[in-house]
Amino acid sequence: MNDLHAQAGLEIAPAEGKLGVLLVGLGAVATTFIAGVEAIRQGRSKPIGSLTQMSTIRLGKRTERQTPLVKEFVPLADLADIEFAAWDPIPDDAYESARVCGVLRPEDLDPLAEFMRGIRPMPAVFDRQYVKKLEGTNVKSGATKLDLAEQLREDIRRFKEEKACDRLVLVWCASTEVFMRPHEVHRSVESLEAAMRENHDAVAPSMIYAYAALREGVPFANGAPNLTVDIPAMIELAGERGVPIGGKDFKTGQTLMKTILAPGFKARMLGLSGWFSTNILGNRDGEVLDDPESFKTKEESKLGVIEHILQPEMYPDLYGDIYHKVRINYYPPRGDNKEGWDNIDIFGWMGYPMQIKIDFLCRDSILAAPIVLDLALLMDLAKRAGLHGIQEWLSFYFKSPQVAEGLDPEHDLFIQQLKLKNTLRWMMGEEQITHLGVEYYGDYQ
Ligand SMILES: NC(=O)c1ccc[n+]([C@@H]2O[C@H](COP(=O)([O-])OP(=O)(O)OC[C@H]3O[C@@H](n4cnc5c(N)ncnc54)[C@H](O)[C@@H]3O)[C@@H](O)[C@H]2O)c1
Repeated sequence: MNDLHAQAGLEIAPAEGKLGVLLVGLGAVATTFIAGVEAIRQGRSKPIGSLTQMSTIRLGKRTERQTPLVKEFVPLADLADIEFAAWDPIPDDAYESARVCGVLRPEDLDPLAEFMRGIRPMPAVFDRQYVKKLEGTNVKSGATKLDLAEQLREDIRRFKEEKACDRLVLVWCASTEVFMRPHEVHRSVESLEAAMRENHDAVAPSMIYAYAALREGVPFANGAPNLTVDIPAMIELAGERGVPIGGKDFKTGQTLMKTILAPGFKARMLGLSGWFSTNILGNRDGEVLDDPESFKTKEESKLGVIEHILQPEMYPDLYGDIYHKVRINYYPPRGDNKEGWDNIDIFGWMGYPMQIKIDFLCRDSILAAPIVLDLALLMDLAKRAGLHGIQEWLSFYFKSPQVAEGLDPEHDLFIQQLKLKNTLRWMMGEEQITHLGVEYYGDYQ
């Protein structure tokens, strides 16, 4: 165990050579991410929304005025050194898929066509039992779930060799699976493997990918709300193999707004009586979420946020009786351009009610793509720094952050940001920033 207050920093292997980014799912988020990285590499775009590329980090005292870019402070893979691969049950290449998803305008996508056409999805481990609204033809077959995992491991090794990658990371950008509760077979690696041999229903496709990645020593980040790596067996395997894991569910759109606003209400001790959120969206994600079982997985991920931030048990007068409702409606004409309405009923001094209405004309994949980039780069950094298991410091990116058993997740975006940056400082042996500030006033120096 490291001494958390030591200033020595961690030993971090350099980010030399190529980083292979494996994506499960080559839909709206994945193709928008790939297109954006290539557009940035070609000098056509800037990495807007990416903390690793655009944010600075303060070091030392405010008077020292040391604020390097995050990417100059910690050794991250260069965007020029990234290679991509993906699995998808739909055989469209990345260009065709991006065109169908309709996130990017043709004038932005077409100059990238040649590059994007070169990314063709490998056959997926896919089963309609877990994603009811999809049909796929580009699918692996195998006698058992363990055989399927072996095939994924071969894909991973082949990609690494063919593209001469030094390191790999995997980000789940595939559809939300049906709601599953933790099961007895998720208890240990041994019971999970036995269940995979028996084709047990409690082993979802996302777990087969996660198992394959961890066995191959590849960090795994989960962008969907599925359980996937959030089960004891995967935590055990990640520990055994020394691999970082993290999830769940990219924090974009309405939940991002909630984790910005709710901490503000709480900071000012304003009460909340209700929060009604509704969305219309018309992309494939919306279609998949039209299935009540997939929606339940998403709903669970979205509902916990407000309660965790507001802590009704500590502030019963303010947050003891909140009505929180989330609706997602599939509405094809909107495509990827979601509209999210929030009606928020708050109350203030002497209990007087107030209302806030938000109408967010949001582009979900535009918000998710930089998260995929940051997670890929930071998971790779974590691995090179010798960190393994749950990476709580990456909660910043997730709607439903994975944490050690017994801990409450941190949802407040600003605490998450502080946690992330302080972790980077800790890794590099820099002083933590407490924002205390008395040191600037003579008497306390
Ligand atoms: N768009 C966002 O901002 C956002 C935010 C948070 C979470 N997410 C989650 O990210 C995921 C991707 O979102 P999207 O908008 O790109 O959806 P999408 O439907 O456009 O893409 C998902 C892709 O995954 C593929 N897929 C499904 N099952 C698969 C499997 N077993 N193996 C490989 N591929 C599989 C589908 O064929 C599809 O191409 C969803 O789970 C979504 O809930 C998205």
